[in-house]
Formats: sequence, structure tokens, C-alpha cells
Amino acid sequence: MRALQPVRPVIDRPRSLDTIETPAVIVDLDRMERNLDAAGRYAAAHNLALRPHVKTHKAPVVAEAQLARGARGLTCATPFEAEVMSAVCDDILVAYPPIGAPRARRVASLPPRVRVTVALDSVHAVDEIAAAARAARRTVHVYVELDLGMHRVGVPGLADAVALAARVQAAQGLEFDGIAFYPGHVREPVMEQDSKLRVLGDALEHALARFDAAGMTPRVVSGGSTPTLWRTHELPGVTEFRPGTYVYNDRTTAAIGACTLDDCALTVLATVVSTAVPGQAVIDAGTKSLGREPVRGADGEGFGQLLEHPDVVVTRLSEEHGVLDLARSSWRPVVGERVRIVPNHVCIVVHLYDLVFGTRGDAVVSCWPVAARGRGPRAD
Ligand SMILES: Cc1ncc(COP(=O)(O)O)c(C=O)c1O
Repeated sequence: MRALQPVRPVIDRPRSLDTIETPAVIVDLDRMERNLDAAGRYAAAHNLALRPHVKTHKAPVVAEAQLARGARGLTCATPFEAEVMSAVCDDILVAYPPIGAPRARRVASLPPRVRVTVALDSVHAVDEIAAAARAARRTVHVYVELDLGMHRVGVPGLADAVALAARVQAAQGLEFDGIAFYPGHVREPVMEQDSKLRVLGDALEHALARFDAAGMTPRVVSGGSTPTLWRTHELPGVTEFRPGTYVYNDRTTAAIGACTLDDCALTVLATVVSTAVPGQAVIDAGTKSLGREPVRGADGEGFGQLLEHPDVVVTRLSEEHGVLDLARSSWRPVVGERVRIVPNHVCIVVHLYDLVFGTRGDAVVSCWPVAARGRGPRAD
């Protein structure tokens, strides 16, 4: 593991949280670093390569902190994420089908010092990324994506998966590195995942046997998610895992027991703007600040939970208004009071903001742009 490196402060001097206009996204840096360290330790203990998915934070400064705390490379979804992250990382996986010549060209045009890998599941993708790799005079590494239960992307049949890997091997400009899968269908509470993990593990074992028999033993077996993070080692053959949400965690992750509420590093700072209607308070964070994501995989009503008053949830949303239901709480907020909300799904929230503020205790000590949000400038 490389030396610890704190997230760089990029404001000139610590400021009070009161000076920040709301709504704003706040990251408790101590919590975030604790989350990174825990995953780094887990990876080391189980000899797994940690390749975090940057879609959660979209910020090079956070990626640097991940790389300094045990990550071996990064995972991206969009070409723009890969471009932005190439400033701080020279080993990038684009875990999204590189379909369409403009997308393939963009991926193959990452700086030459970057080792680029793509995950794909079709002949179309192989041919397109091979052409882009040849045009860019580079090698693009490939994981063949398997559908091991999520039914989103991934080759479902093993004969087809092996044939696709053979096509990759035969393609000039490409190198077959291994297989990938995403266990996004395993979203139940951590202690209730046994049967799905067993089915997933069996499917994986079966797949590995078929690749072995075909003489194409995958060097890398890439999987993993935040809900299954701490059980990745139970999946036979996995060499690399790609959690994204774990950097900040969220209410959903806490609800399924993959973290505690105490591990949620990111909150939305909001202000109470009205208490006029009895039984509720209205904050300046609506769908354009919190998203409209449900809690998935566990019980949990509403669209976010108050950090300081966990019995209060955001029950209704307009674009710029969030309604707090006070029925189960003795807390009676006043207009102007500030609250911090743990969002249901943190990745969506981050993508709604330009800037993130980092805090230590009550002081704001840093601030960074969500540099990879959006699609970025396109070459053509
Ligand atoms: C392909 C892929 N890998 C990894 C992840 C990370 O998952 P999580 O945010 O649950 O950690 C995602 C999330 O969407 C994904 O799509």
C-alpha cells in the first residue's frame, strides 16, 4: 500500500460550515478516509486488487486518496470520467460497453501512458474498439463481461463468452485480460445474501472451468459492489473488486448493513425555509439536490434521513423543496436552522453538484469540483 495522503485542502484557510450557502454537499473527510482504509485493509487481507468505481465521487482528488490507500487502478463508466481520471491514474477500466465509433475513439484516445481496459459483451464492441485501438496505435485490454444474474449487460451463455474471448485474442490491437461481472442484483441485507452469493459463486466457478478448458484462463476476474463488498472473498476466483459507493456510503448502504449510519461520509447541508404548515418543516433541498431515489434492498421510507435526527426523513419533494415529516420526532426546528441529510443514493446526489466541501469536525477545510460530472467536451 502506498503512503497515506490526505485529501488536499484547496481553500486557503478553514472556515465555519455556517459560511457555506445551502444546499451544499459536505464530505466528512475523517469518515471518508476511514471508509477507504477499511476497504484497503480488506483488499490486502484477501489478496484482492481494489479498483474503485469513480462514478460515486467523479473527483480526481478523491481518486488520488483511493490510490494512496490501497487501490491498484480505477473503474469508470463514461469516457469523460476516464479522461478526467487519466490525470491521476495510469490504469483505467471502462466498465461500460464501448459502443459507437465516437465513444470507442474517445476511450482509445486516452493518454498513451494509461493502460486502458474495457469490459464488453458483443462482437460489435470487439470490432469497434479493435478498430479504434489500431487507429490510435495502442493496445486496449479487454474483459469479457458475463451476465451472472443481474440481467443488465453481459454474455449469458458460456460458449458465446468463450467465443467472444477468442475473437478478442485474435483481434489486432486488443488483449484478452479476463472476465468481468457486476453483482448488482445482490442488494439485500448483507446477512441475507447467502443464497444469492452461493448461486453467483457456482455460476462463476462454472464459467472459470469453461474458460480453463478452452485454454483461455482469465488472468483477471473482476466483480464486486458495495452491497457485497465485505463478502467479495467468498466468490471463487475473484481477483479484483470494484466498489463505488463505499467511498461515501449512503442511507441504502446503511439500511442493508454494508456500513453503519456512522460511516456515511456525505451529507447534503440544507436550511429550514418554512415551518408554516404544522407537523412538518420544509428545507431548501428538493429533487434537484437529493434526487428521487428510493431505499433499495431494505425498508426505508422517504428520500433521505437527517444525520442529527435519524427519526426524521424527507417524505415529499418538489424541485427545490423537501418536506420533513416531524410526526415521529420531538425535535421542532425553526426557520433558518441547518440540517444535514444522508441521501438514499449518494452517486446521484454528487452528480447534481458542481462542488463538494470537505470538513474536519465543524470546520470546512477543503473544496473540490465534481470534475467528471456530465459528458465533457467531445472531440467531434
Ligand atoms: C459495472 C459496475 N461496477 C461497479 C459498480 C460499483 O457498484 P457500487 O456502487 O454498488 O459499489 C457499478 C455501479 O453501478 C457498476 O455498474
